[in-house]
Amino acid sequence: MYTGILHLHSYMTYLVLLGVLISFAAALAGLFGNRPFTDKDRKLGLLGLIPVHLQWVFGIILYFVSPNGLKNFSGEAMGDPTSRLYILEHPLTMIIAVILITVGYSRAKRQIGTESKGFKSIAIFYGIALLLILIRIPWNAWPGN
Ligand code: HEM
Ligand code: HEM
Repeated sequence: MYTGILHLHSYMTYLVLLGVLISFAAALAGLFGNRPFTDKDRKLGLLGLIPVHLQWVFGIILYFVSPNGLKNFSGEAMGDPTSRLYILEHPLTMIIAVILITVGYSRAKRQIGTESKGFKSIAIFYGIALLLILIRIPWNAWPGN
């Protein structure tokens, strides 16, 4: 169970980064292209949203089955930077990123047919989320070797 979920979570990270990057770049292109936000643009936003939603479900499961997650929770572990990353910083930062992406998508999908607001919503929320994801990926363990 643990190894399987860890692999899923690890491989899924490629799709998360690729999807969020494509959604973000497409939103910037639309914004600077000065055209209306269409249903096709909403679907480009889904390229980031779907892998991120899947990933957060895998992440939550992993948190409960991993020896590096909840099972490692202690005051002592908080003093160790790597343990703290897995117990606290990584999960918390990623949950904030997931919420930002969901809010960005949700606001954008209500802007179909209007001018640039949908693009702005995706560009800003996905952009900040991407930064958060990048600063709290456990780079010491991923992509691995
Ligand atoms: C955008 C969302 C996320 C991304 C891109 C992401 C990415 C990663 C990566 C690359 C690893 C290292 C995997 C490896 O060692 O090969 C990892 C580990 C881990 N993640 Fe996430 N994660 C995300 C969300 C979450 C969430 C929401 C949680 C929990 C609530 C979570 C819990 C964990 C745990 C516990 C580990 C350590 C597993 C272990 O080494 O035993 N992740 N994550
Ligand atoms: C506990 C797990 C999950 C929670 C709490 C959750 C929460 C949400 C929320 C709040 C929205 C609303 C965004 C809006 O206003 O449109 C949403 C949309 C969406 N989620 Fe999730 N999600 C979860 C898991 C998943 C999974 C596993 C998938 C599948 C890959 C997924 C795919 C989607 C899609 C495609 C949408 C966009 C629907 C639309 O266009 O309105 N979600 N999710």
